[in-house]
Amino acid sequence: MRVDPFTTAVAVASLAASGLVPQAPVAPPAPRTPAEMLRREAIDGAVERAWRGLDGHRATPDEEAAIDEIAGEFGNTYGEVVAGGARTVFDMLGLLHDAPEDASFADLGSGAGRMVAQCWLECHVQSSVGVELSRTRHDCAVEGLARLLVDDDAPAALSTAAAPEFVHGDILAALPELEVSHAYVASLLFDDCMLAKLGRALDASTVASIATLSDFPSESFDRVGKRRAAMSWNAAGGGTDVFLYQRRRPTLFGKMFGSVT
Ligand SMILES: C[S@@+](CC[C@H](N)C(=O)[O-])C[C@H]1O[C@@H](n2cnc3c(N)ncnc32)[C@H](O)[C@@H]1O
Repeated sequence: MRVDPFTTAVAVASLAASGLVPQAPVAPPAPRTPAEMLRREAIDGAVERAWRGLDGHRATPDEEAAIDEIAGEFGNTYGEVVAGGARTVFDMLGLLHDAPEDASFADLGSGAGRMVAQCWLECHVQSSVGVELSRTRHDCAVEGLARLLVDDDAPAALSTAAAPEFVHGDILAALPELEVSHAYVASLLFDDCMLAKLGRALDASTVASIATLSDFPSESFDRVGKRRAAMSWNAAGGGTDVFLYQRRRPTLFGKMFGSVT
């Protein structure tokens, strides 16, 4: 159901324009040391090798229809956060450097799964998971991870955390089962219905910080930041707005009477 066709039309148009109208490229956060720069190169090389030929654009028409049914008319439109853009997102979430010891990451709508693998290799998270409704995209993620795990040159970059998990399913159904503290959702073309459901599911989840591509209604989260990050559809530069939401902390009043401010 289209609830807000105007907002969606603007999002679709800006998405198309971002591939055509030349703009300055957005840079990822600078590496802090030469060693970090080399580590990034090793990570990007390992993910590139493992995912060679695995294309998230290849969902079947049935899968696309099933996604649109849940996420809205354009919900299944495919694109990926590129490696530098993922670094911007990890930095916004506080995962790129000095991640909290118990941090766990989820990409909600993980496509072919590269971002989840990159998070595992790059950020010191305890666990990482990707949830994807398209079986074809999910299978790409599983295959890419299998190749990464046997890449002799990848271990130098590998994190010490357990290997990522990929879940085939709907993020709304999966969220109550996930125990994650940090998440990303490429929600740019989700319709208002889906965003409302996502907001309720996030409110009820363990997620404390989430980076999103659209604002969503929520009783528990506040938008606390915005940055531009590079996506595969920003062929002409410019990047795409990423919004950072954090769960409100309970106040003493809230703790006593069950609400947050
Ligand atoms: C724009 S792509 C982003 C892929 C990945 N996060 C990345 O940035 O590389 C959005 C993905 O969300 C998936 N998706 C949309 N609605 C979903 C839902 N309700 N449950 C699970 N996946 C969903 C789509 O199939 C698509 O693969």
